[in-house]
Amino acid sequence: MRKAISDVGCGELANRICRERCGSYLTTSYIFGIFCLATYSTLAAEPAPPGPFTETECITCHTERDPNLIRQWREGSHSADSGIGCSNCHGENHKESAIIARKDQSCTGCHEGPASHSYSTSKHGIITRLEEARQDWRQPLQRGNYRTPGCSYCHLHNSDHGDTMAPDRGPEVRQWICAGCHSPRYVRELFANGNRQLEIADLKLTEGESLIASAVDDQTDALPKLRKSLNHHRHNVLLGIAHQSPDYQWWHGQPALDGDLIRIRDRILQSRRRKSLADNLEE
Ligand code: HEC
Ligand code: HEC
Ligand code: HEC
Ligand code: HEC
Ligand code: HEC
Repeated sequence: MRKAISDVGCGELANRICRERCGSYLTTSYIFGIFCLATYSTLAAEPAPPGPFTETECITCHTERDPNLIRQWREGSHSADSGIGCSNCHGENHKESAIIARKDQSCTGCHEGPASHSYSTSKHGIITRLEEARQDWRQPLQRGNYRTPGCSYCHLHNSDHGDTMAPDRGPEVRQWICAGCHSPRYVRELFANGNRQLEIADLKLTEGESLIASAVDDQTDALPKLRKSLNHHRHNVLLGIAHQSPDYQWWHGQPALDGDLIRIRDRILQSRRRKSLADNLEE
C-alpha cells in the first residue's frame, strides 16, 4: 500500500529527500543540510496549480510527484487500457479534486445497477447517504476519519489506486479495513458466513448447469436464458456478501437461485412431455 506523506515520519522523509538531492554533502556540510531542508519544505508546501489540465498533463506531472500511485493506476482496472483516466474520478482541475473522488457519486455513474444497488441497500450505504452533508470529506480515507465506509473508503483505501478489495489481495487486507470499525471477531464470523453462502450458491449453480446439460432435446433459447439468470443471481449473492446487503444475499440472491432451479426443472419436464406426446402421435 502506498505510504501517504502523513504516515511517513517528518525526519525520515526529510532525510530521504536530502540524501537523494545532496548525497554525501549532507554529512560534510551542516549549512548545506539546512539549505536542503529549506528546499524540501518549499516542495512539500507547493500549492496545487488550479488547472484545468488534460489527462496527459495530470499523468506527466504526477508521475514525477507520485510514481507509486501512477504505477498502481496503470496496473489496476481503472487504467488507460479501460479508457479511464484521472479526471473521470477527480474532475479536470484541482478544486476539491480529492473530495470529489472520495464521494460515492464519483463511482455510481459508471457502476450503476447491482454493484451500486447492493451497496445503497446496505447499512453502510444508507448511513453514508444520510450523513453525507455532515461528513468532513477533506479527511483522507483512513481509519478513524469516517463513521461508515463509502465506495472509495473500501476500494481506494488510503489512496490505493489499485483495488484494495480485489480478491488477489487476500482476506487479511479486507479484514484489517473492516476491523477499523468492527470487532475482529465479528468480522471473522461475517467472512465465514459469507464463504458458506457462496458455497451454497455454487452448489445451486452446478446443479442448474448439469440439469441444463442433460436436456439435449430442448433446442429453444429457453434454457440458455435460464443459465444466464442463474449466473446473474449467483453474482447477486457475491455482491450481497461483498457489500453486506441482506436484500442481495436473500431476496435477489439465494431465493432467486431456488426459483431458477424450479423453472429449469419445469422447463425440462415440459419439453420431455411434449416430446413423448409427439412420439406417441407418430406411432
Ligand atoms: C503541473 C503539475 C500538476 C498537474 C498538471 C496536475 N497536478 Fe495534481 N497536484 C500537483 C501538486 C503540486 C499538488 C499538491 C501537492 C501534492 O499533493 O503533491 C497536487 C495535488 C493533487 C491532488 C491531491 C489534492 C488534495 O486535496 O489532497 C489530486 C487528487 C490531484 N493533484 C489530481 C490531479 C489531476 C486529476 C490532474 C489532472 C486533471 C492533476 N492533478 C494535474 C501538481 C499537478
Ligand atoms: C477510480 C477513481 C480514481 C481514479 C481513476 C484516480 N483517482 Fe486519484 N484518488 C481517488 C480517491 C478516491 C482519492 C482519495 C484517497 C484518500 O483520501 O485516501 C484519490 C487521491 C489522489 C491523490 C492524493 C494522494 C494523497 O496521498 O494525498 C492524488 C495526487 C491523485 N489521487 C492523483 C490521481 C491521478 C494523477 C490519477 C490519474 C493517473 C488518479 N488520481 C486517478 C480516486 C481516483
Ligand atoms: C468512467 C467510468 C468509471 C468510474 C468513474 C469508476 N469506474 Fe470502476 N470500473 C470501470 C470499468 C470500465 C471497470 C473495468 C470493468 C471490467 O474490467 O470488467 C471498472 C472496474 C472496477 C472494479 C473492479 C471490478 C472488476 O470486475 O474487476 C471496482 C471494484 C471498481 N471499478 C470500483 C470503482 C469505484 C469504487 C469507483 C469510484 C471511486 C469507480 N470504480 C469509478 C469504470 C469506472
Ligand atoms: C464495506 C466495503 C465496501 C464498500 C463500501 C463498497 N464495496 Fe464494492 N466490494 C467490496 C468487496 C469486499 C467486494 C468483493 C470483491 C470480490 O471478492 O470479488 C466488492 C466488489 C465490488 C465490485 C466487483 C463486483 C464483481 O463484479 O466482481 C464492484 C464493481 C464494486 N464493488 C463497486 C462498488 C461501488 C460502486 C461501491 C459504492 C456504490 C462499493 N463497491 C462499495 C467492498 C465494498
Ligand atoms: C468506517 C467504519 C466502518 C468500516 C470500515 C466498516 N463498517 Fe460495517 N458498519 C459501520 C457502521 C457505523 C455500521 C452501522 C452500525 C449500526 O447498525 O448501527 C455498520 C454496519 C455493518 C453491518 C450491518 C450490521 C447490522 O446490524 O445490520 C455489517 C454486516 C457490516 N457493517 C460489515 C462490515 C464489513 C464486512 C466491513 C469490511 C468489508 C465493514 N463493515 C466495514 C462502520 C464500518
